[in-house]
Amino acid sequence: MMHSPASVILLLLCGTRFGGAWGYTIPQGPADAVRRGEAINTTRAGFIYGPAVAGGPFYPSGPLGKAKVDGDIGNEQLEAVPNSALVAKDIARANSSAEQYQGLDTLEEYLLLYQGQWAKTLPKGPAPGVLTNYTQDLFFSMERLANSAFSVRRLPRSSELPFLVDGSIVSNVTGSSLQKLLKDGRLFYADHRAQKSWPKTTNKFAAACDAYFYVSKKSGQFLPLAIRTNVGSNLIYTPVDDAADWTLAKIMFNVNDFFFAQTWHLAATHEVVQIAWMAAIRALSIEHPVYALLNRLTYQLFAIQPLAQSFLFDNGTAFDTLFPITGSGARDFVTELYINGTGAFKDGYFETDLKKRGLIHGDGPTLDHFPYYENASTIHKAIRNFIRTFVKSFYQSDRAVQSDPELQAWAAEANGPAKAIDFPNEFDCIDAIVDALTHIAHLVSTVHHSVNTNNLISISATLPMHPASLYKPVPLTKGNTSVAQYLPPLRAVLAQFQVDGIFARPLIANSTRSLSYMFDSPTFLNGTNRETRTAAAKFKEEMFSFSKEIQGRKFDKDGLSQGAPFIWKALDPTEAPFSLTI
Ligand SMILES: *[C@@H]1O[C@H](CO)[C@@H](O)[C@H](O)[C@H]1NC(C)=O
Ligand SMILES: *[C@@H]1O[C@H](CO)[C@@H](O)[C@H](O)[C@H]1NC(C)=O
Ligand SMILES: *[C@@H]1O[C@H](CO)[C@@H](O)[C@H](O)[C@H]1NC(C)=O
Ligand SMILES: *[C@@H]1O[C@H](CO)[C@@H](O)[C@H](O)[C@H]1NC(C)=O
Ligand SMILES: *[C@@H]1O[C@H](CO)[C@@H](O)[C@H](O)[C@H]1NC(C)=O
Ligand SMILES: *[C@@H]1O[C@H](CO)[C@@H](O)[C@H](O)[C@H]1NC(C)=O
Ligand SMILES: *[C@@H]1O[C@H](CO)[C@@H](O)[C@H](O)[C@H]1NC(C)=O
Ligand SMILES: *[C@@H]1O[C@H](CO)[C@@H](O)[C@H](O)[C@H]1NC(C)=O
Ligand SMILES: *[C@@H]1O[C@H](CO)[C@@H](O)[C@H](O)[C@H]1NC(C)=O
Ligand SMILES: *[C@@H]1O[C@H](CO)[C@@H](O)[C@H](O)[C@H]1NC(C)=O
Ligand SMILES: [Fe+2]
Repeated sequence: MMHSPASVILLLLCGTRFGGAWGYTIPQGPADAVRRGEAINTTRAGFIYGPAVAGGPFYPSGPLGKAKVDGDIGNEQLEAVPNSALVAKDIARANSSAEQYQGLDTLEEYLLLYQGQWAKTLPKGPAPGVLTNYTQDLFFSMERLANSAFSVRRLPRSSELPFLVDGSIVSNVTGSSLQKLLKDGRLFYADHRAQKSWPKTTNKFAAACDAYFYVSKKSGQFLPLAIRTNVGSNLIYTPVDDAADWTLAKIMFNVNDFFFAQTWHLAATHEVVQIAWMAAIRALSIEHPVYALLNRLTYQLFAIQPLAQSFLFDNGTAFDTLFPITGSGARDFVTELYINGTGAFKDGYFETDLKKRGLIHGDGPTLDHFPYYENASTIHKAIRNFIRTFVKSFYQSDRAVQSDPELQAWAAEANGPAKAIDFPNEFDCIDAIVDALTHIAHLVSTVHHSVNTNNLISISATLPMHPASLYKPVPLTKGNTSVAQYLPPLRAVLAQFQVDGIFARPLIANSTRSLSYMFDSPTFLNGTNRETRTAAAKFKEEMFSFSKEIQGRKFDKDGLSQGAPFIWKALDPTEAPFSLTI
């Protein structure tokens, strides 16, 4: 192939294509675009859209696709192998301490599982409050606004009520009626009925709950009102039931919410970023700044789908062992979620999603406390500030964005052959590209680690309130309930801790793999200007001081933190990773 003398000089100036030792560039005019287009075409020939390996969108294929997958798996194994060794040690110790748990015959005996255990995978123990306040209604409800914030929504005032609850009970609990709560914008709803009709595993059980929550006029607190099982005799439980019945109802909801959070997160984070990155690889030159940033944010990304298939979905693995719905059922559930809307790119933007669900700027009273929003927004804002500086160092105007053929090709590729859902049709201004890149950084960090990673063993999968399944069929009547009989036996407890331990990343804490270092990579920063490097340092400092604030958090005089009877720390940027790890 022929090069003009000018393009030879340009190639020399660019130095090695893979070293990152040059400045990233957007195409500098038509000739440059053609030059870069040759390499892009080579990539397109070798990096192709293959079938999904664990449900959801396409997965890389072709020689370059396979090489990229292998590289990601290698990087993932570097962290997963030592982590699994820690888990094995903790499990062996817990297994040899069986007498300590006194038979796990009562709810309280499940707390013994934590005494002197899990030193390697959960060095600081469960989130403060988990072992003391776990039966409180406010604990249960505030989880919907912190560590499991993606299933609840405010019911619009014009909604039909999804189900009715005895009026005198509603009145006793809330001092109001369902209709009045709805009209006041105080009624919230979470719906897991979609879990009802999927293939079930043996000897494990679940309801398919939907539930009401409400904002109390008296206390301003966000509290549970009613839980309906939708199976068997379709019982409706409320806080006026016997303590054991109501506790079981909260556990039944938690089983569904746990299944939802884990399947949802695959569709909402891994799969959305996966297809956006595949389209980018096939549209952007590796000299492009957006390629460089995405390459940083997608560290290990393609390793996860094969891992999910072999570790979670294959017959006889985690879902079959632990959950009420089989592995193949769970995989298809993820795909259905992805197609149903969870896989939508723009619709999932941080504030767009929360507004759509009426959790911010809703049609009703503002939530007094919303830990997920409060603390994710600190990180989200800082991410956006960095990305804006980075983007503006390459595009001086909206016009420059509009006339970047590679950037526009990314949008066309994503919406065309990649079949991404709700991806921007074009990038018409600086803000549009900043929004899209911020969203990807947000999905791989604040969203993912708020429901997964260390969050599982520290709160979302803690026992006795969060088993992966019930071990006795959903009751047909209330009264005479022994909650412990529904909880996992020791063998299943250990299996749950083992799977959840493998999701944790205790070895990343305080390292350059932590979220604080999201942009502070010498390789990535090598191609950026001074302003961008300053912004990366500023981001890191902001994350360090946010971490200090989180680590300094204590219960207030009412025994609460951010309005919850637990202290939620999953988004500590010195402990959460900067990318999807598992
Ligand atoms: C950054 O670029 C310099 C100058 O080209 C090079 O010597 C160095 O190895 C690069 N560093 C990294 C971490 O890529
Ligand atoms: C890249 O491939 C496309 C489609 O085959 C073609 O139209 C274009 O001319 C190619 N670009 C270069 C620089 O070879
Ligand atoms: C626990 O120990 C028993 C033997 O005491 C063994 O059969 C079982 O496989 C162990 N379970 C785990 C999860 O290590
Ligand atoms: C509601 O509260 C009143 C007064 O405490 C009590 O008599 C009544 O039984 C309660 N109703 C229900 C359904 O709990
Ligand atoms: C997808 O949407 C359909 C139609 O609303 C619904 O019946 C189904 O339960 C949804 N699937 C999941 C996994 O939520
Ligand atoms: C997995 O189990 C399903 C349902 O029992 C069965 O249809 C399928 O053939 C199994 N797959 C393999 C690879 O064994
Ligand atoms: C995190 O949330 C808490 C509770 O609302 C708030 O006090 C704190 O300022 C937030 N941290 C940051 C850095 O926004
Ligand atoms: C209560 O439950 C226990 C254990 O499940 C059972 O043995 C007993 O017969 C039940 N009592 C009543 C009155 O249903
Ligand atoms: C990280 O470092 C900080 C400050 O030195 C320390 O307080 C914290 O405990 C460390 N975290 C871990 C998990 O080692
Ligand atoms: C929650 O538990 C902590 C101890 O872990 C305690 O200090 C606090 O008072 C409890 N909060 C409530 C509301 O009971
Ligand atoms: Fe994940």
